[in-house]
Amino acid sequence: MNDTKPAPGNAATPAQVRIFDTTLRDGEQSPGCSMTPRQKVVMARALAGLGVDVIETGFPASSESDREAARLIAREVRTPVLAVLSRCLPADIEASARALDGAARPRLHVFISTSALHREHKLRMSKAQVLDTAAACVAQARGFVDDVEFSTEDGTRTEREFLAEVVGAAIAAGATTINVPDTLGYTTPEEMRALFAHLIATVPGAREVVFSAHCHDDLGMAVANSLAAIEGGARQVECTINGIGERAGNCAMEELVMALKVRGAWYNADTGIDTRQLVPASKLLSRLVGMPVQRNKAVVGANAFAHESGIHQHGMLRHRGTYEIMNPEDVGWPASKMVLGRHSGRAAVSHRLRALGYTLGEGQLDQAFAGFKALCERQRVVEDRDLEALMHGDIRGD
Ligand code: KIV
Ligand code: ZN
Repeated sequence: MNDTKPAPGNAATPAQVRIFDTTLRDGEQSPGCSMTPRQKVVMARALAGLGVDVIETGFPASSESDREAARLIAREVRTPVLAVLSRCLPADIEASARALDGAARPRLHVFISTSALHREHKLRMSKAQVLDTAAACVAQARGFVDDVEFSTEDGTRTEREFLAEVVGAAIAAGATTINVPDTLGYTTPEEMRALFAHLIATVPGAREVVFSAHCHDDLGMAVANSLAAIEGGARQVECTINGIGERAGNCAMEELVMALKVRGAWYNADTGIDTRQLVPASKLLSRLVGMPVQRNKAVVGANAFAHESGIHQHGMLRHRGTYEIMNPEDVGWPASKMVLGRHSGRAAVSHRLRALGYTLGEGQLDQAFAGFKALCERQRVVEDRDLEALMHGDIRGD
């Protein structure tokens, strides 16, 4: 298996990718995921505990609740950079700057749409107007703080030359991070890699700023596209816990972080995330917004480390590497799960019975296994208490 490839730039040490968490802004914009300011503070503390580099706390111009949350978090969460989003409107930027008042490490994040479709139908602006507005709003934001991020909404569907021009204007006006969102989740990984590599190689001043990817999941490629952007030179990725976000969601932090960890030799890049906090953070968010995590969700879903089939369980009992590429403990699960059900084999049942204190001879095991199989015809999962009952004759297996 070819496990490594020349990393971008061939760096001897892994490139550090900043994690910009937007659970509290883009994530919260997903239907049914709104949070109260207090809930946002609880989540922001968990994000700080995870070690994220930047927390986007909201969109202050959009509501009193967003302003309140941004103010509270600015007071109570001091380690990560705190960002808030603004349209390229002077009043938005002022509201954002006020909401960050007192923050230890404030960042103003300003954005404007750049694609032809958005220019014509949403902004009703010419290219020249978009260019001037972008530069003016970055300059205004720099009047408040030194850390200014500029985003080109619908950037990946924008004409390349124009995109490069807008990015260049934002850098010249003082932007320190350039975010190129795949707002509609339309792009493919290969396009993403090429786009970032092109912008970084050609836009004047690009090497003095951090490039950032912000991918949506409309075609299920948000994580793949974010990884491709890193290959193209992005050093910040915007993501959310559990991948919540507009429509199909945003790049899922837990997936991106673990892809970089597990395939570190391939990407030659890593993050500062404490991966053992991923499952607790996922569960916390799920409780706060009342949105369950799908069982088969990578890394944080209940089935991510659960094994039911006999062949897999047999392999796992001999060596966990046969069917696991990560340790569940490394992402915050207590252990792998052997789920006993219709697909389970004799080895797993015998192993479970031994763990419960039953050392059986061959004949007794035959009998117990037959009882177990009959039970599986009546219920999907056989729990320890069912096995105990079976062994004590309280459940008839036939
Ligand atoms: O998806 C998007 O384009 C955004 C920007 C406003 C950053 O969320
Ligand atoms: Zn977005």
